[in-house]
Amino acid sequence: MHNGTTITQFIIEEQRKIEGATGDFTSLLNDIVTACKVISNMVNKGELIGVLGSAGSENVQGETQKKLDILTNEVFLRSNEWAGHLSAMASEEMDEIYEIPGQYPRGKYLLTFDPLDGSSNTDVNVSVGTIFSILRCPGERVCPNLDAFMQPGVQQVAAGYALYGPSTMMVLTTGNGVNGFTLDQDIGEFILTHPDMTIPADTREFAINASNMRFWEAPVQRYVNECLAGTEGPRGEDFNMRWIASMVAEVHRILTRGGIFMYPVDDKMKATGTEGKLRLMYEANPMSFIVEQAGGASSTGRERIMEIAPKDLHQRVPVILGSKNEVERVVGYHAETAAEA
Ligand code: AHG
Ligand code: MN
Ligand code: MN
Repeated sequence: MHNGTTITQFIIEEQRKIEGATGDFTSLLNDIVTACKVISNMVNKGELIGVLGSAGSENVQGETQKKLDILTNEVFLRSNEWAGHLSAMASEEMDEIYEIPGQYPRGKYLLTFDPLDGSSNTDVNVSVGTIFSILRCPGERVCPNLDAFMQPGVQQVAAGYALYGPSTMMVLTTGNGVNGFTLDQDIGEFILTHPDMTIPADTREFAINASNMRFWEAPVQRYVNECLAGTEGPRGEDFNMRWIASMVAEVHRILTRGGIFMYPVDDKMKATGTEGKLRLMYEANPMSFIVEQAGGASSTGRERIMEIAPKDLHQRVPVILGSKNEVERVVGYHAETAAEA
């Protein structure tokens, strides 16, 4: 018999604090939670149900899709289209926005998601996740159109992720701190296990794909070189390094013990006209909201991610997030480089 707070209870109690709340938002979050439970089960069964491997198709970013990218996208659409809370959805795995079909009522919210983050890790049985963000339709009217999605991250109503690791967890913010829930598989409920998650301001652990080092800009080169120089370098301390290639897992580690995560813009991207690897609407904005709510910081190196006015649904941005003092240091290095130039 569990006696913890379930995520449903938690969301309903949060809703009671908001005057005039209709329960629409609570119900939407519940559908998202259900979708993540279905995905958790699918990811867990893996090859037993034949879902590993490539689907042989490409998404709008030209990335090869895994079977699980497509299946998990379907799970999210089916779980969230019917209840009448949404006008439209947008996903990393779909070229266009998904308007709620005519047979269902439409509502005042928009949902964006990365159904399976870190999907290159599925075949090797390493942690993956789902990331989502909820926006309100401008003017609170029904708004099944692309323009409605073009809102900066500061306007997010809620953001969260599910992490499919040794435990399945759900981490959620509605702009009032960050809370973590662990799925109890026996009863099928997420239980509040990590209340009020906070990121320590200082860290000695960084995460970056160092195979791109030769393409990095000067400020990122400087920061990482100083970390690598350890006690003999200007930082006077040894640093540790991690790279999981699954942003959800990296952000979760940072929420648990601090750290800095970087996927910066580099010369190779610039040569092909891209500004980053990670997607603003499905990855950068929701994760920035969570990180800031936990006391961390999130920047491109030049601007706060959540203040970027989106130009394109699938826009990519540089991402530098995590422990506040380290992120501010990297931002400072960018400013110094710009001032010298
Ligand atoms: P996705 O699987 O949704 O395409 O996202 C993968 C992302 C992110 O989770 C991770 O941090 C990064 O791409 C990994 O990039 P590298 O393959 O360059 O390490
Ligand atoms: Mn992703
Ligand atoms: Mn993905």
